[in-house]
Amino acid sequence: MLITHIIGARPQFIKAAAVSREIAKYPEIEEKIVHTGQHFDANMSEIFFQQMKIPEPDYNLEVNSLSHGAMTARMLKKIEKVLLSERPDWVVVYGDTNSTLAGALAAKKLHIKVAHVEAGLRSFNRRMPEEINRILTDKISDLLFCPTDSAVRNLQNEGIGSDHLTEIFKSGDVMQDAAIFYSKFSCKPEFEIPEKFVLATIHRAENTDDPQKLNNIFNAFQKIAEKITIILPLHPRTRKILPQEIKKISNLKLISPVGYLEMIYLLQNCELVMTDSGGLQKEAFFFQKQCITLRDETEWIELVDHGFNSVVGSDTRKILFAFSEIKEKKNDYSIDLYGNGKASERILQKLLS
Ligand code: UD1
Ligand code: UDP
Repeated sequence: MLITHIIGARPQFIKAAAVSREIAKYPEIEEKIVHTGQHFDANMSEIFFQQMKIPEPDYNLEVNSLSHGAMTARMLKKIEKVLLSERPDWVVVYGDTNSTLAGALAAKKLHIKVAHVEAGLRSFNRRMPEEINRILTDKISDLLFCPTDSAVRNLQNEGIGSDHLTEIFKSGDVMQDAAIFYSKFSCKPEFEIPEKFVLATIHRAENTDDPQKLNNIFNAFQKIAEKITIILPLHPRTRKILPQEIKKISNLKLISPVGYLEMIYLLQNCELVMTDSGGLQKEAFFFQKQCITLRDETEWIELVDHGFNSVVGSDTRKILFAFSEIKEKKNDYSIDLYGNGKASERILQKLLS
């Protein structure tokens, strides 16, 4: 059996690392990796392949820094060429980026079976490019690997699966597999780290592309930084757009993106997480930290339902209120929300069945 992963953005390297590690246990499976090139800086791409020992990509399509339409179209054309020569049994796509949609669409048009890992997530906000990528990918995939019960429900509510063209399978979340496996290799970053700090990230287009929202969030960070250091690895999208004066806020430590092993160290040692990232909301839970989500909605609603995550958007006062409340919270993190590290194993067994 030949499985081809199509990946291109940072979180996809992490997800594919977990699945690829599982594939390596099956001698009867051959895998190929197609890197679309969507993320390309060494600290957004190469470092993950090195640290997580992901096999070198068999193809790098070098499609990056384009508008949504141009990027997806160029990926589609180049992926099609690869798939025509490789003819895999399965194409596996991950998450909700432009690389996900291009991979699924290219494969389906060639009648190649598509498995979507992290299927069924919905924010119900169709202004998010990721929401469009998810809806379309879920609609055309053959096998939908859902991380959660709510993801399964979302698909059922859309009638997906009822036509027997698509199968829904609750696998759990491969990001938890990665967090569990790589946590023993966590690595202290090469800069001074205070005993107590908040770990923050910001990259979501709805925040970076709206100067008012971005300003509100950093106003809150400035106030919080008067009490505790904030360490914020800056996504290139945010680095390009952040005004100089924000870069000078004292106690707000803006650093370059770090590798996954450094990120795990920061997660293990922080007091709490503040983010608009999808993946980081769950990792806060995996590492037993409270999360304040700087978006108006989340796809990971079970974290909110169980009190692990406060979704506050970009309103300065709401962010500060959530921050002031968080110290009081004592949570039991033993609940199994994401499959406890067995998602990749279930995915492989299903693909082989
Ligand atoms: C993409 C995904 C988003 C995901 C995020 C993970 C889409 C629509 N969005 O958003 O769902 O959460 O990745 O991080 O696919 N850039 C660099 N160097 C890099 C990577 C990006 O300079 O290595 C720059 C690009 O030139 C571009 C900007 O960052 O100007 C945004 O990159 P892009 O891949 O378009 O979207 P992301 O915001 O990274
Ligand atoms: N991450 C990382 N280094 C960083 C910032 C994030 O390794 O400097 C990891 C993070 O731990 C998580 C993933 O990247 O595993 C999340 O990716 P991102 O926030 O870019 O995308 P999203 O999950 O929002 O799609």
